[in-house]
Amino acid sequence: EALTATATIKGDTPGPIYDRHIFTQFAEHLGTGIYGGLWVGKNSKIPNTRGFRNDVVQALRDLSVPTIRWPGGCFADEYHWREGIGPQAKRKVKINTHWGGVTEPNTVGTHEFMDLLDQVGAEAYISGNVGDGTPTEMAEWVEYMTSPSGTLAEERAKNGHKAPWKVPYFGIGNELWGCGGNMRAEYAADETRRFATFVKVPYGEKITKIASGANSEDYNWTEVMMQQATKAVGGLSLHYYTVPKGFEKRSVSVGFDETLWAETMSRTWKMEELLTKHGAIMDKYDPEKRVFLAVDEWGTWYEEDAGTHRGFLRQQNTLRDALVAGINLNIFAKHADRVRMTAIAQMIDVLQAMILTDGAKMVKTPTYYVFQMYKPYMDATVLPIDLKSPWYGKDQWVVPAVSASAVKDKAGQVHVGLTNADPNRPVTVTVSLTGVAGTAVSGKVITANAMDALNSFAQPSTVVPTAFTGARLDGGTLTVTLPAKSVVMLDLK
Ligand code: AHR
Repeated sequence: EALTATATIKGDTPGPIYDRHIFTQFAEHLGTGIYGGLWVGKNSKIPNTRGFRNDVVQALRDLSVPTIRWPGGCFADEYHWREGIGPQAKRKVKINTHWGGVTEPNTVGTHEFMDLLDQVGAEAYISGNVGDGTPTEMAEWVEYMTSPSGTLAEERAKNGHKAPWKVPYFGIGNELWGCGGNMRAEYAADETRRFATFVKVPYGEKITKIASGANSEDYNWTEVMMQQATKAVGGLSLHYYTVPKGFEKRSVSVGFDETLWAETMSRTWKMEELLTKHGAIMDKYDPEKRVFLAVDEWGTWYEEDAGTHRGFLRQQNTLRDALVAGINLNIFAKHADRVRMTAIAQMIDVLQAMILTDGAKMVKTPTYYVFQMYKPYMDATVLPIDLKSPWYGKDQWVVPAVSASAVKDKAGQVHVGLTNADPNRPVTVTVSLTGVAGTAVSGKVITANAMDALNSFAQPSTVVPTAFTGARLDGGTLTVTLPAKSVVMLDLK
């Protein structure tokens, strides 16, 4: 027996743009996120272009990844850009103190990263080093990347790239409350002002600086930053991970029970509360919403896969992760006036990854396919949606069964994203459409028999989008039956 929900989509009162930068990806020097997962070197047997593996680059191109955040994360506040330029063989080999204590060869540095962006067709979001760096080092890195003239530009040309690069986004440190220096909010605000002062680009160029924001519910951080530092920046970040059982214990990534499924959904819905409350603080200081909220780390964080290094944060990705992705992408729509960038953590082989690799093998995860389904959302206009959903719960974990969002793309086509978190029961949603043209509906669905269904190297197509036939459009009413544990994307024509 299907549960029932009702919704209204208001096409005649369009909302903000669903900024394509909400689909930003995060790539840190962590585990095989860079080395192995993206970079295999020019002499590898794995087919590559100037060192970056072709299979992974193609998969990212297919997703139209708009922006990549690099080199960290925690890694960024210990990163010294000069160690990553010049002849690769001569670069300093360091210890990656955050992530496994392994050696960091600096083989992928600024030039290689910019080449990766070209290959993928993405823009740069560089995180600068506030933690153990200096304003001079930061300023010189930005000048090295963006200036057409001067000694640093000549050095860049000598290293193989005459033309300056564009750096549209630049992070003033990362997690300054933690691995970025364990600062108090007041001190971090001052450091943000100081470092940001010296980040400059040539006349006519634009760089949007993003301040290191709060961890989860640290509302005081947002308050202090907004009050004291945001004149210096265009964005303020927020990090929130879905961590069932908490960071100490953590959930397995496969083979979990329904209670853990429900806990994961509930901890994901926390994003709604966080965006509402951080957003309200930002509204106080910036009612015009000049400063955007960049949720530049989000996603699931589980126990590492058996046999892998704890510091590599390598985890499997299942249908549960697909739901987490869909729910978050729907929540971002509701807050798109303030949330104009987000970055899922992380792109390859780390945490809630798009892609998993093992040597020459590669597989696209359920999360990848959700991102693929939501591609029409990039720069589309959000249509307000009112939703009344039944509850789904197991033990103490209770959430709305359904989450939903809607957009109208530039061609005028309306897309409706829906999730059903109930793993046992379908939900029939009756949607009244006002101001939405359309006479036909088609769609895609991601679901599977098991809550922890996944795509393996041997069976890569277990959790993939398939044609969805559970929707009917009848005049101004759309009726959709969402299968249990599913993500659905509808296209109205
Ligand atoms: O994504 C992994 C780590 O999580 C990042 O390096 C850090 O910013 C956060 O704590």
